[in-house]
Amino acid sequence: MEILKWGKEFELGIPEIDQQHKKLVDILNSFYTELAGNVDRDEAIKHFFNDLEKYLILHLKFEEEFMQQMGFDNFENHKKVHDMFIKLYKEEKERYLSGDKKALNELVALSLSWLLNHIAKTDRKYAEFYKKLNNQT
Ligand SMILES: [Fe+2]
Ligand SMILES: [Fe+2]
Repeated sequence: MEILKWGKEFELGIPEIDQQHKKLVDILNSFYTELAGNVDRDEAIKHFFNDLEKYLILHLKFEEEFMQQMGFDNFENHKKVHDMFIKLYKEEKERYLSGDKKALNELVALSLSWLLNHIAKTDRKYAEFYKKLNNQT
């Protein structure tokens, strides 16, 4: 079962970044697939948190360095949006860990919708900046 298919509409034309975005979407999809099968639920959830956090932090850091290196003019705001999401994610995770089982579904739904929206709107802005920069030189 897949809750979301990766499509061209999410590609920014920067291969390394596109791969990282795709990986994040894969992690969310695999989690659903795992839970639908006959698995140890607690193990699946533990793996999910580990994987998602590892790649999310890695990706956001990579992106922030990438934006800084090219001198992206809206870097500070973009970083704030990343930080806000990490905060929200941690709050949802805490809610789940302290016994609110519903928070897990909310966390996955929230992560997916945030990710897709963020890629399509916010990330696209630095991608356009990057392309303009490359065309000038
Ligand atoms: Fe991104
Ligand atoms: Fe971003």
